[in-house]
Amino acid sequence: MKRLFKPLIALGVVSLGLAGCSRLDMQDQPKYKPERPSDFFADGRSERQPLPGTIARGALEEDTAFYVGTDDQGNDITAFPIAVDRAVILRGQQRYDIYCAPCHGRIGNGLGMIVRRGLKQPPSYHIDRLRDAPIGHYYNVITNGYGAMLNYAQQLEPRDRWAVIAYIRVLQYSENANVNDLPQEARSRVPPTSQPPIAAQANEPLVTRDADFTDFPAKPATPSGVPGAHGAGAVPGSQPERK
Ligand code: HEC
Repeated sequence: MKRLFKPLIALGVVSLGLAGCSRLDMQDQPKYKPERPSDFFADGRSERQPLPGTIARGALEEDTAFYVGTDDQGNDITAFPIAVDRAVILRGQQRYDIYCAPCHGRIGNGLGMIVRRGLKQPPSYHIDRLRDAPIGHYYNVITNGYGAMLNYAQQLEPRDRWAVIAYIRVLQYSENANVNDLPQEARSRVPPTSQPPIAAQANEPLVTRDADFTDFPAKPATPSGVPGAHGAGAVPGSQPERK
């Protein structure tokens, strides 16, 4: 034991000495702030990409019905993957009115304000094809976009997408309800079909009718001289024109 002890002490002293001269502390390491370049890696970046298939903690999206809107065979699902109650529908209504109504209209007829100002008109939700479309199709449209429509994945997290779809189903039902579905006392207030529509409905056109927009885009509604406006009414140079 005693014979071993001496060399050990000697080794300790030597290594202490070595550590003293080539001391590499953490504060001497190369330090990279996000996006700062590095000449250490061939691609010149200090940051590495995660390995393919890496899943961040808490980001495992195993439930394809909920996250993708399809079943195991890849078909659009037809049953809601969340419990739909009044609160969910009200949340959906609120999100719908913010993110979808500007184009699809408050009742889903495809005549939102942006459409009246010239954007491509989406189909009404009340056509047979969309009424029959599985809810998975709606989820896919919101998540990935559809034709001229951009996706709303950033604006709506998956749960909100389902809430919006629940509300669209409410809209579809409301526009295609059977009078017998109404409670008795409400049924008596529905005018018979022979009767002309009640005044409030008659005044609410389902087709584009906007006094400002009789001759669009030749005659833009934006009065001449409004900063930031596009088209003929724009103040030149106040906003970059879209190419
Ligand atoms: C900026 C306008 C705009 C907004 C906002 C918008 N859409 Fe659309 N949407 C369109 C247009 C335009 C189409 C038609 C696209 C096409 O056929 O090229 C469309 C089509 C659709 C369709 C029909 C797809 C089919 O099978 O024909 C659905 C469903 C739909 N949108 C859902 C939504 C939902 C839900 C929202 C809100 C989260 C939303 N849209 C927001 C413009 C919009």
